[in-house]
Amino acid sequence: MTVEVPKSVANTLVDIKAYAQETPLDEAFAWLRANAPLAQVQPDGYNPFWAVTLHEDIQAVESQNDLFLSGERTVAVCDAKREANTEELPVRTLVQMDNPDHMAYRRLTQEWFQPANLRNLQERIREVAKDIVDSMAATGGECDFVNDVALRYPLRVIMEILGVPPEDEPRMLQLTQELFADGDPDLGRDGDKGDSSGALEAMLEFVGYFQQMTEARRSNPSDDLASAIANGEIKGEPIGDLEAMGYYLIVATAGHDTTSHTVSGGMRALAEDPALLAALQADPTLVGKFVEESIRWVTPVKHFMRTAAEDTELKGQKISKGDWLMLCYRSATRDAAAIEHPEVFDIGRKQNKHVAFGFGPHVCLGQHLARMEMRLFWEELLPRLKSVRLAGEPTGVESNFVSGPKSIPIRFEMT
Ligand code: HEM
Repeated sequence: MTVEVPKSVANTLVDIKAYAQETPLDEAFAWLRANAPLAQVQPDGYNPFWAVTLHEDIQAVESQNDLFLSGERTVAVCDAKREANTEELPVRTLVQMDNPDHMAYRRLTQEWFQPANLRNLQERIREVAKDIVDSMAATGGECDFVNDVALRYPLRVIMEILGVPPEDEPRMLQLTQELFADGDPDLGRDGDKGDSSGALEAMLEFVGYFQQMTEARRSNPSDDLASAIANGEIKGEPIGDLEAMGYYLIVATAGHDTTSHTVSGGMRALAEDPALLAALQADPTLVGKFVEESIRWVTPVKHFMRTAAEDTELKGQKISKGDWLMLCYRSATRDAAAIEHPEVFDIGRKQNKHVAFGFGPHVCLGQHLARMEMRLFWEELLPRLKSVRLAGEPTGVESNFVSGPKSIPIRFEMT
């Protein structure tokens, strides 16, 4: 029997304010998981799509990447108005590719992102973490953790990796926020238009910036990631311009915003639960579990879309060729069938097999870097943090694609 999904639940799936507030969103996902875990929905103003809300269904879709394509319906944009604006994107990123290109382009940097290579960066990243922690101490015990600390750290790490000078970091941050949170009244450029034109403008600015960088790395290559991209070869041919730009863009955006949101979520958990700080200080080896739980808890990437390549069946539902599917990661990380007591922030989990990094062939390429960065940050901060608590009401970013805390006022004591 097909259960009808209430319009309010369908609308919540795309409502950027619900993503900022979290509770209405989690309630909508809980309703879907309980009543219609794989349901076709049509929010007002949107074309219909399947909402995939269970952990195991997301894994099933993601592991069949020749059946459920990424390239047809790229990422978050899925309403009719926005589609008009995304026909000719100035980039082609890994998340927009299918095989055979996806595999070939992913292989280009796969090794660079492996732990064995990342270990070479560890000491430098620790220095960056130390500097940021020092600057937090220098605020004198009160700050907005998101803007004063969390947004600055992964940004600095990834921009250094890419060779972007520190004076350009604020511009990179602003462009990232305009791209990922185009509808947010404080961060986006769309204003009342709500048509993604701001995101497209930001993308074009990024491309202009990285074109110059490509030329510099081609005439003067080093062993950094930017040089590996600029001088990459795919099947014996130089990497295409659209694809090189796509690589820079995804690293320069997904490479920090996701991680900052997660660090912020970790701090909020600490500020709300003094026992958590005490536990981490009593046993510093728990930091890895704390990082993992923060990733699950925040799930900064809220969804990606897939398109069915042919008629098929999933959990007894007939999916037609061309149907769109929304992979609702935030729902899957709260699915009690996969995560015990998902509503609790718990660093004691024996297993934490969440899908916040996605799953299968497209699984996050930067996951090891993200984990290492966060571990180093907390290793520097936790031993110096004597106490922390909220000093005001936190707010969230209004975006149904990449989102997390927008502001977390805290009061703290540090050595
Ligand atoms: C907490 C931090 C992060 C989270 C939660 C996250 C999450 C995700 C998710 C959900 C996907 C889509 C996976 C899928 O379709 O199955 C993805 C893809 C990707 N991420 Fe991340 N990410 C994070 C950090 C990073 C960092 C630091 C980088 C790079 C420096 C990065 C680079 C990428 C790339 C290149 C892809 C595309 C992979 C592909 O399509 O083959 N991410 N990420």
